[in-house]
Amino acid sequence: MNVTEAVTTRRSVRQFLDKPVDLETIRRVMDKARWAASGCNYQPWEATILTGKPLAELQEKMKTTPPQQAEYDWTAPGQEEAYTKRLHGVSAGMFGAMGIARDDGQGRMAAMARNTTSFDAPVVMFTYFPRFMKEAQWSDTGMWLATVGLLLREEGLDSCYQEYMALYANVIREHIGIDHDRYMLFCGMAIGYRDPDAPVNNFEREREPLDDTVKFLGFD
Ligand SMILES: Cc1cc2nc3c(=O)[nH]c(=O)nc-3n(C[C@H](O)[C@H](O)[C@H](O)COP(=O)(O)O)c2cc1C
Repeated sequence: MNVTEAVTTRRSVRQFLDKPVDLETIRRVMDKARWAASGCNYQPWEATILTGKPLAELQEKMKTTPPQQAEYDWTAPGQEEAYTKRLHGVSAGMFGAMGIARDDGQGRMAAMARNTTSFDAPVVMFTYFPRFMKEAQWSDTGMWLATVGLLLREEGLDSCYQEYMALYANVIREHIGIDHDRYMLFCGMAIGYRDPDAPVNNFEREREPLDDTVKFLGFD
């Protein structure tokens, strides 16, 4: 698989097969991902990857823990219509594929709650960094996560990033044994093999046209 194939075949997978992922494969991916770039080479990212019993135990705890206020805000773009439209686009595609009607608030909530079990993924990674990290290091961590996502594709694996996990940061931190005062829990990542037949893995996604987002100067 070349990079283009990895990029174009990656999508957020929200239904995984009941098929384990072996440690060697996941270690190979994470080992290569260390080569992601970061400002000042700080490599601010840290992660814990769970499968089997420790994952099941965490998911059990999350079932009985009410969601908390997230420690960071992913809603800010909602103040401008252009961004709200993009959010509505993915919601319509995703909930539509699952057969959940627009006005079915409860159905949508239940579908969102599938985040807590990471859409049945056999492996979940939690990413965090010291709280003193600023915008540049959050961005570095995103680049590292993107690298992980593409390397997973190379191994035939799929993923879904999960900022939803920020709603359970306390219980996750406690379960994986990282200090609340030191660490910001950024994101979960569901990892496994996609169910190719699940409609939620097959709806059409949208992207803005290239020339609406990128300017090219001086090429002619
Ligand atoms: C940092 C980050 C966090 C995300 N969190 C979630 C999440 O909590 N739950 C979810 O279903 N999708 C989540 N997504 C997936 C986005 O909805 C998805 O990337 C976007 O709709 C584009 O679709 P695609 O990944 O299939 O190309 C997240 C993506 C990123 C990059």
